[in-house]
Amino acid sequence: MLCEDPTAAPRVEGKGMHILVTGGAGFIGSHLVDLHLACGDQVHVVDDLSTGQRSNLAAHEDNPDFRFDQADVLTWDRLDRAVGWADRIYHLAAVVGVYRVLAEPTKVLATNIAGCERMLRAARDGGWKPQVVLASSSEVYGHNDEQVLREDQDLVVSTRAGTRWGYSVSKIADEALGLSYAQRFGIPAVIARFFNTVGPRQVGRYGMVVPRFVAQAVRNEPITVFGGGAQTRSFCDVRDTVVALNALANRSRTDTLIANVGNDREISILELARLVIQRAGSRSTIRDIGLREAYGEDFEDIRRRRPSLDRLRNLTGFKHRYTLEETIDDLIAVERQGLIGEKDGHCTLVRHQSERAA
Ligand SMILES: NC(=O)c1ccc[n+]([C@@H]2O[C@H](COP(=O)([O-])OP(=O)(O)OC[C@H]3O[C@@H](n4cnc5c(N)ncnc54)[C@H](O)[C@@H]3O)[C@@H](O)[C@H]2O)c1
Repeated sequence: MLCEDPTAAPRVEGKGMHILVTGGAGFIGSHLVDLHLACGDQVHVVDDLSTGQRSNLAAHEDNPDFRFDQADVLTWDRLDRAVGWADRIYHLAAVVGVYRVLAEPTKVLATNIAGCERMLRAARDGGWKPQVVLASSSEVYGHNDEQVLREDQDLVVSTRAGTRWGYSVSKIADEALGLSYAQRFGIPAVIARFFNTVGPRQVGRYGMVVPRFVAQAVRNEPITVFGGGAQTRSFCDVRDTVVALNALANRSRTDTLIANVGNDREISILELARLVIQRAGSRSTIRDIGLREAYGEDFEDIRRRRPSLDRLRNLTGFKHRYTLEETIDDLIAVERQGLIGEKDGHCTLVRHQSERAA
């Protein structure tokens, strides 16, 4: 069930929960907004639109239960008030994507750590202790190349190729901040370690592999695989991700926990390229590009990433609704519609109309 019945009554009677989503105009955030509005909650989004898009929220513009502020979480002067209003805060605002992490290493650390701390401080200082859901990442596992990654395993971050690890370090710091504020000030924190999330509204230009492959396949261009393609990943549809996240948060209203959120089906990047070509009926070939050429420095790739989902399943009974094939098919359909829209000059509208309800 999408809208799990919350056992603890929401603070505001009659109108669902008050949900604040930082980074809510982004890929995962906009799907969370869809979910909570569909559940009858009130949703306030703050986003500086650095990588997010207002059009991701177009369906809700006239909804009286929805509010949007374009602002930077580092400097926004109404953050305290927004946090004070919220029963639950999803903190997703972050500098993301391999290309941005490599190009703007200091910004990654500043935004991701200082933004999280500012939000937690506001939660501490308000009269009410809202639940905080922090977006962490499988990147915190770093070099840990265990077959299956469990929440209690060590986080192994290399000192080589320093800038590449800034994102992981920032997310480890966010986790430590969340745990500290929970222990010291009693703010319940759900720390979600997202593994690769894919689906409608994700953009490829910051280094996300699936939208890039789909765009190349639909145009019959060569699919560019970086570093051989033997590296494996596990992809979870965003429409599953947000349901799992909400279920975790509902289950843990007053507890603090860390949980992997993703899908445990593992696939190599080369297999992924072949799958996308096959699903698209594309004439694309596969072209291998070295990591140095792709990322422009001594880039260390991660060989495998597969989550243990025991904790998520034990806590919530969560089951996935989307296979990777279904997600790819949806993305191919959206991409094709987008191509038609580009020609007609109304790409965004077409994309929205073609998306399946979450
Ligand atoms: N997509 C994934 O596979 C994945 C994997 C691991 C972790 N995550 C984490 O999940 C969260 C959401 O990621 P996403 O994939 O939706 O990326 P995204 O770029 O679509 O979303 C991030 C949003 O934050 C906003 N933002 C950035 N800096 C901000 C600031 N200073 N103030 C206000 N808003 C700001 C952006 O405009 C964007 O809308 C991030 O914290 C990311 O680190 C995502």
